Amino acid sequence: AYVVAEPCIKCKYTDCVDVCPVNCFYEGANFLVIHPDECIDCGACEPVCPTKAIFPESELPDKWKEYKALNADFALKWPNLATKLAELPEADEYKEQKDKRALLDP
Ligand code: SF4
Ligand code: F3S
Repeated sequence: AYVVAEPCIKCKYTDCVDVCPVNCFYEGANFLVIHPDECIDCGACEPVCPTKAIFPESELPDKWKEYKALNADFALKWPNLATKLAELPEADEYKEQKDKRALLDP
């Protein structure tokens, strides 16, 4: 499955949602996740993310390995998101910011 990693935090552009053929994105307050059992590995979401937050599980950078479990866990708790929304108001400000893990709103 594909995994949403740290760059999405505080941005949530949701371009990914617009292209997913199986609607497997789930929405938190300032982050989005992919349900690993619903993702069909089509790869459509990866190139459209403005923050480059999405990776195939096999290419997830080591520093973001915990996001595999975070996606699986939050996908069971958060509501499904099937249509694109406006990005967060602070999205452009946080787009290039590093080390956003502590800002993830559970
Ligand atoms: Fe959806 Fe395809 Fe991305 Fe999986 S890889 S989340 S199926 S767009
Ligand atoms: Fe997040 Fe990128 Fe989607 S910022 S909401 S993973 S388009």
